[in-house]
Amino acid sequence: MATGHEKIETSVGLMVVLVILVVSIGGIVEIVPLFFQRSTTEPVQGLKPYSALQLTGRDLYIRESCMACHSQMIRPFRAETERYGHYSVAGEFVYDRPFQWGSKRTGPDLARVGGRYSDEWHRIHLINPRDVVPESIMPGYPWLDKNMLGTGDIQKKMRVLRTLGHPYSDEQIENAPKELEGKTEMDAMIAYLQVLGTTIKTRR
Ligand code: HEC
Repeated sequence: MATGHEKIETSVGLMVVLVILVVSIGGIVEIVPLFFQRSTTEPVQGLKPYSALQLTGRDLYIRESCMACHSQMIRPFRAETERYGHYSVAGEFVYDRPFQWGSKRTGPDLARVGGRYSDEWHRIHLINPRDVVPESIMPGYPWLDKNMLGTGDIQKKMRVLRTLGHPYSDEQIENAPKELEGKTEMDAMIAYLQVLGTTIKTRR
């Protein structure tokens, strides 16, 4: 006589159905509460949506695939917090669509790089990293310093983000093209880098 357990183990179909059932219960228990927990859905105190210039810099960060070498999430381990500062919390990324957490770290994590260097340091570093870090293997992005920003679609982008819950005021959207006028891609990239992780104050 086959016992119940033996029946399951010898019937592939039944096994598949039961495995799916068990895994989905496990998944639901882990994932569903995250949609309702304040700590994962509410912005941390003081978090602002990206300004027009910062938002444009973020799009350039994605265009240039900086995330191929840089993560933006500090894990809650001593070795990480000693090096980068306070570990990342979910509420810091409420206005990041999509977030840039990543796991590939050819270069350092950038989650709290805001304010660590001067704008001028970033400018030199992004044009040719070897000018400030002689052993660096990061590629240079000199064209960022030459390309001027277009202002065409910034208002549309901000309006779309507003429908998703980013609290932009009419005034901010109105003034967005003006904020980008006369600025280079480099200005936008630096504005973005300088705001990363600055909502939570750290020792650094
Ligand atoms: C091929 C891998 C690679 C790519 C792509 C890359 N980086 Fe880097 N990055 C590095 C490495 C390695 C370092 C460490 C050496 C240095 O400071 O140059 C670094 C350092 C940095 C630092 C200094 C971080 C710190 O805490 O000292 C910043 C800021 C930075 N990168 C920004 C960028 C941005 C913005 C882009 C995209 C435009 C980018 N990186 C693309 C590899 C990369």
